[in-house]
Amino acid sequence: MTGDENGGLRLAGTIAPLTSDSSYVRRARERDVDAILRVIGTYVEQHVLLPRTREEILEHIDTWWVSDLNGEVVGCAALRDFGGGLGELRSLSVVAEAHGRGLGESLVHAVVRDARRTGMTRLFAITANPGYFARHGFTELPMEGVPEVLHVDRVPWPRRSGAGHAMELAL
Ligand SMILES: CC(C)(COP(=O)(O)OP(=O)(O)OC[C@H]1O[C@@H](n2cnc3c(N)ncnc32)[C@H](O)[C@@H]1OP(=O)(O)O)[C@@H](O)C(=O)NCCC(=O)NCCS
Repeated sequence: MTGDENGGLRLAGTIAPLTSDSSYVRRARERDVDAILRVIGTYVEQHVLLPRTREEILEHIDTWWVSDLNGEVVGCAALRDFGGGLGELRSLSVVAEAHGRGLGESLVHAVVRDARRTGMTRLFAITANPGYFARHGFTELPMEGVPEVLHVDRVPWPRRSGAGHAMELAL
């Protein structure tokens, strides 16, 4: 895990890829909002991710994490806290040209760590890609099993490919 909070140092045992590329995950800042909108934009158009407005992102910017690859934001994810120990991992996305480098995994780890740090006990993801979350220990549950509170601010899907899967990670 590399991270801003580790001063960019890689922990022992983490093999840095043999390229000049440097990537790390850090908390998002207000100046990242355009990059976040760009990263999720492609997948919103494909109805894979829910749209997020600039205002919504800025209002909760402290809940967003971004992947920085050579100084460019190429991935993001957000942690929504619903209280009562319940959280949701939202908007997990990495630009296509940066796929397969472990950036998605680093974002999931950052959000899970943050959820644990804030005392959450159940972390959910509503996704078109259950397989990816299953790789990271999430298990699928029926949508009816998702606590009602998680639907309070959910934007209804106009159209969506691959129907929503509810995934949960016990923290
Ligand atoms: C899901 C996503 C964030 C993964 O990003 P990434 O940085 O490429 O992921 P990683 O490098 O950590 O992992 C890549 C591995 O995950 C696998 N993977 C990717 N999507 C997968 C899926 N839907 N199901 C199962 N495995 C998947 C890849 O095949 C690859 O496997 P390998 O390591 O054995 O080659 C990226 O594919 C993406 O942005 N997808 C579109 C948005 C999306 O679906 N977000 C999820 C929430 S809805």
